Amino acid sequence: MSIGVFFPLGLYSVFLIMDYFRYRNKELYCEQIQVKTLAKLYQTPLYIYSARSIREHYHRLKNAFPQTLICYSVKANSNLSICRLLSDLKCGFDVVSAGELYRVLKIGADTSKTVFAGVGKTREEIVYALKNEILLFNTESIDEIETINQCAKALKKIACIGLRINPDVSAHTHRYITTATDETKFGVSINEAKIIIKNIHHFPAIRLVALQMHIGSQITSVLPYLKAIRKIVPLIWIARKEGHFLRYLDIGGGFGIYYKAREAKPASKFAEKVLPIIKKLGLSLIIEPGRFIVGNAGIIVTKIIRTKQIASRYFIICDAGMNTLIRPALYDAYHKIAPISIRQRVKKIRADIVGPICESADFFAINRLIQDVNKNEYLSLFSAGAYGYSMTSNYNSRTKPAEVLVDGRTHRLISRAETYKDLIRLEEHGPST
Ligand code: LLP
Repeated sequence: MSIGVFFPLGLYSVFLIMDYFRYRNKELYCEQIQVKTLAKLYQTPLYIYSARSIREHYHRLKNAFPQTLICYSVKANSNLSICRLLSDLKCGFDVVSAGELYRVLKIGADTSKTVFAGVGKTREEIVYALKNEILLFNTESIDEIETINQCAKALKKIACIGLRINPDVSAHTHRYITTATDETKFGVSINEAKIIIKNIHHFPAIRLVALQMHIGSQITSVLPYLKAIRKIVPLIWIARKEGHFLRYLDIGGGFGIYYKAREAKPASKFAEKVLPIIKKLGLSLIIEPGRFIVGNAGIIVTKIIRTKQIASRYFIICDAGMNTLIRPALYDAYHKIAPISIRQRVKKIRADIVGPICESADFFAINRLIQDVNKNEYLSLFSAGAYGYSMTSNYNSRTKPAEVLVDGRTHRLISRAETYKDLIRLEEHGPST
């Protein structure tokens, strides 16, 4: 949403307007389409994405990081139409499972721009990726490298790998999305990396072509990136001394977006500090953004089922729940919430905005100041494009919502809402006993 709606327009908001969800005459629009029209047409809860915002975020990164391979992190939002939109812009992909790679293949994307991450790649997944000629595996242990070597040998292929380093820096983000301290399971320590780099010669089907890091998500300061890169630089020299022909430094994803107001940084702020270092090192840069591209490009529209008061607390009960957006329940994440139609001179109230799921953690906001709203009105949960739909579930046997992609004056269903039949499609009730 244009933060100008909530904050006086100043230099900051000009910097931070990152999407095309705007209020016009007190009605929320996605690009040229009124959100209410979509809510009525497709029913709620409903995910709505702005194609123009996605393209713009991608171009912001591309302009800030020219000559960089951008591998969109599919986990953030894996919808085929969104992946296709990005692949049309020549974007590469960062996948973490054979399932994500299957999606990349389904849209006919160029797998030579696909990197494969994850601590638990199975033999089957490795073979699948090798057969489909991905650019490289970002590896996280000697055992994984050994398995990749065996698979590549059997297929008579050479596997290119990056080594994921855990530089032990704090990214000052939520504990659950911090990934590069030595208490997390990710990557290998600097000391272990030295040993691995010296021993890779024992794996004839492996080529070490990259060093990689991913220090966390929703990072709003450049400093942790710089600290981590500085720790990795000596390893680059060691790798070269050992005769490895390193081509890439992959600094992962993590670039923050705005949820509240000012937390997002323009991509150029990261680029201007990082690029000179990469240039000096004589390597090509890979980045793996997810949230930055899709986070602010999506909202959820939810209908208010009813309101109720218990003692001193006032609840707004929505048709979306933690099964639709789990981030508040899981990370205590803040999402801006506002009615899609702003009414004039309506008092503000404090309310807990909750879903219909039988869990106390089923909330979107606690004690939030919001325009007084009634049953059957619609609310928008903003900044829901990343880790929204991709983390939905069927908990309480609730069906998953539809997803719609808006592009200018057009809108298109990019995944239909589930039906009750979908809920049980994999199950059998068996004979009665
Ligand atoms: N590369 C790797 C190896 C990753 O593990 C991730 C995200 C990314 C790239 C993309 O990070 P991004 O640019 O989106 O920050 N579910 C959490 C976020 C988990 C991120 C997991 N890894 C949330 O809702 O905040």
